Amino acid sequence: KEDQSGPDRISPTGGADGDRRQQGETLTTAQGARLGDTDHSLKAGPRGPVLLQDHHFREKITHFDHERIPERVVHARGAAAHGVFRANGAAENITSAAFLRKDVETPVFVRFSTVLGSRGSADTVRDTRGFATKFYTDEGTFDLVGNNIPVFFIQDAIKFPDIIHAGKPHPDREIPQAQSAHDTFWDFVTLHTEATAHTMWNMSDRGIPRSYRMMEGFGVHTFRLVDGDGKTNLVKFHWKPRLGVHSLVWEEAQIAAGVDPDFHRRDLADAIESGAYPEWTLGVQVFPDTPEQEFEGIDLLDPTKFVPEELAPVQPIGVMTLTSNPTNFFAETEQVAFHPGHLVPGIDVTDDPLLQGRLFSYLDTQLSRLGGPNFGQLPINRPHAPVNDMLRDGMHQTAVHDGVAPYKPNSLDGGCPFTAAPGAGFVDVPVPIESTTKQRTKPSSFDDHFSQARLFYASLSEVEQQHLAAAYSFELGKCYEQPIKERALEVLARVDATLCEQVAASLGLPVPSVDDAESDRPAPSAALSQIGQEWPV
Ligand code: HEM
Repeated sequence: KEDQSGPDRISPTGGADGDRRQQGETLTTAQGARLGDTDHSLKAGPRGPVLLQDHHFREKITHFDHERIPERVVHARGAAAHGVFRANGAAENITSAAFLRKDVETPVFVRFSTVLGSRGSADTVRDTRGFATKFYTDEGTFDLVGNNIPVFFIQDAIKFPDIIHAGKPHPDREIPQAQSAHDTFWDFVTLHTEATAHTMWNMSDRGIPRSYRMMEGFGVHTFRLVDGDGKTNLVKFHWKPRLGVHSLVWEEAQIAAGVDPDFHRRDLADAIESGAYPEWTLGVQVFPDTPEQEFEGIDLLDPTKFVPEELAPVQPIGVMTLTSNPTNFFAETEQVAFHPGHLVPGIDVTDDPLLQGRLFSYLDTQLSRLGGPNFGQLPINRPHAPVNDMLRDGMHQTAVHDGVAPYKPNSLDGGCPFTAAPGAGFVDVPVPIESTTKQRTKPSSFDDHFSQARLFYASLSEVEQQHLAAAYSFELGKCYEQPIKERALEVLARVDATLCEQVAASLGLPVPSVDDAESDRPAPSAALSQIGQEWPV
């Protein structure tokens, strides 16, 4: 019956007043005993030795010794803020999610991050950025755990350790900290060519955003929305920044990484503190939920593909405004735990194999990062909806549950008066499955690795294309292994002949010959005219 929740118990900055450790006028031990001196250890005489019986000394040092927790295995460096999401009601006819009804306001906590650098790495490196939003809705917490790039490197979560091992610093010297500029990353993405489109977005100006406030966000995967009658639609989520999409140029990014490694987190905190609240429109692209789960020939279950906005416009469903900075980085930004499986009634997942793997990975990693199964009780992770689960005990349990029968069915505790909520609770949408033969495989539609890279390249302006060629030249120029550079040129030849020639010239290598049918295939007609443009809110 423990109600761990309730907006009344959570302050606007996420801290629960009941948990405050700073009360009263005087300094105390952790047990509340008032302290007369915290500057000198207890010694046998002025020159020591220090006595083992000095509890205050041991408590202070022991606690300090245990101040760090493991950093996230990816997205370790981040900055976050609190805010509010206000729905405009446009999604009411496709989802029963209550927080998307007109004018409903929902508190949010957003964490932006780089993917590959460690907690102390620089902000402005070339990398994908995380864009994770926790909506504390009245129906439970909904997490939209996205990135600033709408496609991903891999199609199947079983490859996630491979791409991350290839991109993280080398195991011997632990360099470099940035995503690219080393052989293992380029080795992987040129052997595993489904990574081509994401790599191209990284090498474009999108890989070096000007500010977190000027980034788009994408749910990447296709989700399934369900209305009150059980009718479903497939959607992709998009965040559009009110300030428009802007990037640094490479020289700026490099200088900022040296002169001010906190460039992005400072920019976010300063903007909020000065009242220039960052804002994003949340929008959805809506697709009919057909058995094929594809749209205009694009497989909606393939996370290496996006759907051009000319084919499916992004329809605004609400606005998010970030209004306050965290009070305590560790308590909030470091301990927040997002999970793509934190869903509310009206929003469900699809069979995208990358998303399916993520549904396992986040809770699993948080069990070790946050020390056991009770991190949902931390103030920043507490739902704002009433919680009444039958989860009990475990490391760091802080709730005092009453009753004797945390199981169902039971005849004690009044037969456990709390019932399931048929019709009102979360419904797993009944979707037919295609095959009942288990196999390690993928659909043939996943074999197309280059059309979206071509589409993206064709959508860039001339100067953006120059930046992209310069980025490939710079990063590949840092590779030691010539065969990796040659293979990268073969990949580029399949995307665009001119791009390949420019990078080959810069690397001093010959232009590879590519199968004509591949290299001459035109980019799909729908170019991405929205890229780099301001989005009207
Ligand atoms: C963390 C996004 C794919 C495992 C994160 C974070 C974001 C994110 C934004 C940082 C959350 C925060 O700020 O705390 C994405 C996107 C993906 C993707 C958009 C693909 C579309 C995957 C896959 C796996 C994975 C395939 C594993 C199979 C993790 C793990 C963390 C993480 C282990 C650390 C979580 C923590 O320690 O709390 N991801 N990710 N991600 N992601 Fe992903």
